[in-house]
Amino acid sequence: MTSPLANLADQTAELLATIAGLTTIEQLRDAEPSITGKRSILSALQKSFGALAPEDRKEAGAQLQEARRVVEAALEVRRRELSQLARAQILIEDGLDLGDVVVRDVRWPASVGHPNLIAITQRELEDVFVAMGFTVAEGPEVESDWYNFEALNIPPAHPARGIWDTFYVDLGEPETVVLRTHTSPTQIHLMEEAVANNTLPIHSVMPGRCYRRDTPDSRHLATFHQIEGLVVDRGITFGDLAGVIETFTRAYFGPDIASRLRPGYFPFTEPSAEFDVTCTICRGAGCRTCSHSGWVELGGCGVLDPAVLAAVGIDGREWSGFAFGFGIDRCAQMRHEIADMRVLIENDTRFLGQFS
Ligand code: PHE
Repeated sequence: MTSPLANLADQTAELLATIAGLTTIEQLRDAEPSITGKRSILSALQKSFGALAPEDRKEAGAQLQEARRVVEAALEVRRRELSQLARAQILIEDGLDLGDVVVRDVRWPASVGHPNLIAITQRELEDVFVAMGFTVAEGPEVESDWYNFEALNIPPAHPARGIWDTFYVDLGEPETVVLRTHTSPTQIHLMEEAVANNTLPIHSVMPGRCYRRDTPDSRHLATFHQIEGLVVDRGITFGDLAGVIETFTRAYFGPDIASRLRPGYFPFTEPSAEFDVTCTICRGAGCRTCSHSGWVELGGCGVLDPAVLAAVGIDGREWSGFAFGFGIDRCAQMRHEIADMRVLIENDTRFLGQFS
C-alpha cells in the first residue's frame, strides 16, 4: 500500500503558498480551519493513519507532526505581519501619512518593529514585583554626587568609589554631576519624598539605565540597566530580603534555577550580600560566560544602613528596611541563555527579531 504521506511535501508546499497569499487578517481567520484546523488536509491525513500497520504509524506520525509544525509556524508569522499591517492601516486612517511605505504592497508591509529584549525584560521584571506587592518608580539618569554617592554612605575619596568609577561631568556648578552608576540613588529620592509627604512605608522597585567605565565583555556593558528594590517598613529583617530574592528567582527563572546569597560589601547596606543564580549557559558545570564558576552574579542587596536612613531623616529606631539592585540585561541573558551580552546592543535584527 502506498503511504498516505506520499504527497506530503507537495501538500505542505501548497499550504505554505496559500498562507503567503493571504492578504488580510480576516482572510487568515477564515482560512485557518482549512489550513491547520479540523477541515485541513493535515487532519485528514492524521485520520488515515488508522489503516497503517502499527510499526509504520510512529514514523508517519513524526513526519506529519513536522509538516504541521512548519505550517503552523508560517501561519503565525503571517498572522503577525497581517496584524501589523492592520495596525498600520488604523494609523493611516487616523491621519498618519505612511502612504508610500505601507499601502503600496499590502502583501509585504514594512515592519513596524517591536520593543528590544531589554525593554521586554524590564516589563516582565516589573510584572513579577508588582505581583509581589511592589510599586514601580523611576529616577534621573544624571545625578549629583550626593545622590549617587554621598547619601549612600560613600563619602568623597572613599575607596568604595572605585567600584563605581564613572563619567564625571564638571558643569562648573557647586556640585559634581555624574551619569549614575547604579539605580541606588533612586532609593534616596524615594525616601526623601516619603519623608516630605509623610507616606512611609515604601515597597518599590526602580528600573533604569546606568553607566560605568566597564570594558564590555560577555557579562558587562558600559551602558546597562538595573532594577532596584526598596522596602522601608516596621520590623523588616534580612529574612524578609532573602524571602523576596528567592521568591523572585523562582517566579522569573523557574524552579530549576537556584539562587544563592554570598556575604558582600556595600557602604549603604549592613549586612550586605551578593546575589547569584545558576549559570543557564552551562547549568552550573562552568563555562566562559560564568568564568568557570557555574554561577552568575545578578546583583547586590542588604539591610539598609542606619547612616542612609539618617541621611534622609528617617528614624532608624522606628523604621528598618532592605534594598537590592540587579542587572536587567543579566536577567535577559540568563533567562534566554545568551552566551555574550554584547549581542543585546549590536542591533542585529536576526538576533533581536527572535524576541518580537
Ligand atoms: N547598587 C549596587 C550595585 O550596583 C547593588 C545594591 C543595591 C547593593 C542595593 C545593595 C543594595 O552594585
